[in-house]
Amino acid sequence: MKTARIGILTVSDRAAAGVYEDLSGKAIVETLSAFLTSPWEAVYRLVPDETEQIVQALLTLTDAEGCDLVLTTGGTGPAPRDITPEATEQVCEKMLPGFGEQMRRASLTFVPTAILSRQTAGIRNRSLIINLPGKPKAIRECLDAVFAAVPYCLDLIEAARLETNPDHILAFRPGS
Ligand code: MTE
Repeated sequence: MKTARIGILTVSDRAAAGVYEDLSGKAIVETLSAFLTSPWEAVYRLVPDETEQIVQALLTLTDAEGCDLVLTTGGTGPAPRDITPEATEQVCEKMLPGFGEQMRRASLTFVPTAILSRQTAGIRNRSLIINLPGKPKAIRECLDAVFAAVPYCLDLIEAARLETNPDHILAFRPGS
């Protein structure tokens, strides 16, 4: 079975400057380790909230590194330097707005400020890119809300096949 390559892109001025540790990137690795039973490897990048650097990192992860899935964290809010969704749109051929809608809907049961996240998702070639908010606790809350649909989405774009641990997340593949 092909080893899936999963890009983890942390977008944070402060984490990139070493002001604090990138706990959100860690939370993504922990969540994926719980969810996935098929082989996968992480490809990690950390950039500040700069459009050019985010776009370049997304292009590297999708085109050069051949990631099947890219999870970004941070920069989805309304503050002046929050520009991750725009950078994501710049590199995607197709947007999948349902991911952002569902993550916000589910997140609103935890915090009223979930409405402030402009997180989205989209396809670039054979990669699915999904934005997650920057808070470590938001990572699991958001991935719990949408990950059931991720393996089938990767099937449809001819990316790696993902198998999940049903104790944590039950992948839904129509017709199987
Ligand atoms: N979503 C979940 N599941 N849990 C959270 O704690 N925090 C919100 C929101 N979405 C949150 C969440 C807050 S406070 C903000 S400002 C936005 O995500 C944007 O966060 P970001 O700019 O770090 O991406």
